[in-house]
Amino acid sequence: MGTASLWYSSLPRREALSGPELTTHRLVLRRWRDSDREPFAAMNADAVVMEHFPARLTRAESDAFVDRIEAGFRARGFGNWAVEVPGIAEFIGYVGLSVPSYDAPFMPAVEIGWRLDHRFWGKGYATEGAHAALGFAFREAGLDEIVSFTVPANVRSWRVMERLGMTRDPADDFDHPLLPPGHPLRRHVLYRLSRSAYDG
Ligand SMILES: CC(C)(COP(=O)(O)OP(=O)(O)OC[C@H]1O[C@@H](n2cnc3c(N)ncnc32)[C@H](O)[C@@H]1OP(=O)(O)O)[C@@H](O)C(=O)NCCC(=O)NCCS
Repeated sequence: MGTASLWYSSLPRREALSGPELTTHRLVLRRWRDSDREPFAAMNADAVVMEHFPARLTRAESDAFVDRIEAGFRARGFGNWAVEVPGIAEFIGYVGLSVPSYDAPFMPAVEIGWRLDHRFWGKGYATEGAHAALGFAFREAGLDEIVSFTVPANVRSWRVMERLGMTRDPADDFDHPLLPPGHPLRRHVLYRLSRSAYDG
């Protein structure tokens, strides 16, 4: 755990308040705006979006999540980017990089993750944004490996991981440390992608 901060301590601090911003064919991955908070809270209260999470979030919990993401950007130079689809929607959710705050067998690690408004599923936006986030992780942040994890039932999420070229070793499956024994969402599958595999 303690070594995690060393991995990205050399990241440039430029654009500390507004960047880094990533652009893809269809998307802009940007820092969060206050106007994102209301639609994000609606997503976090949506039973479809939150099907594979232990609980939906209140407005206060959703806002605190945004605050933690922005604090992460300021501390590390990367985070879960707010996703905009220019000309279509100013905010559809997030895709990006985060550092789990708990200990687990795969830690220390940087995680790639995604959460989109369900009206924007099935369009390839999560995978497209995640490709940009992986490029940032390996090319800009100089990270050696990225992990991602989810419950086995979250097929849409692990299919994004597989589309990105991430691979799963069943020996890496783990019980989420923040969920109690017997909780139906406790067991997780872990996917990994190394920089060398990404380059290859
Ligand atoms: C996980 C999640 C981001 C996946 O979203 P998604 O839209 O299924 O994933 P993608 O953006 O990669 O889109 C892939 C789909 O878009 C389709 N698609 C349509 N147009 C496309 C295009 N131009 N390019 C690529 N794919 C396209 C693909 O065929 C694929 O469809 P399929 O699912 O029917 O096979 C979304 O389900 C979600 O936000 N879930 C709730 C939050 C969550 O559980 N997060 C993960 C926690 S671990």
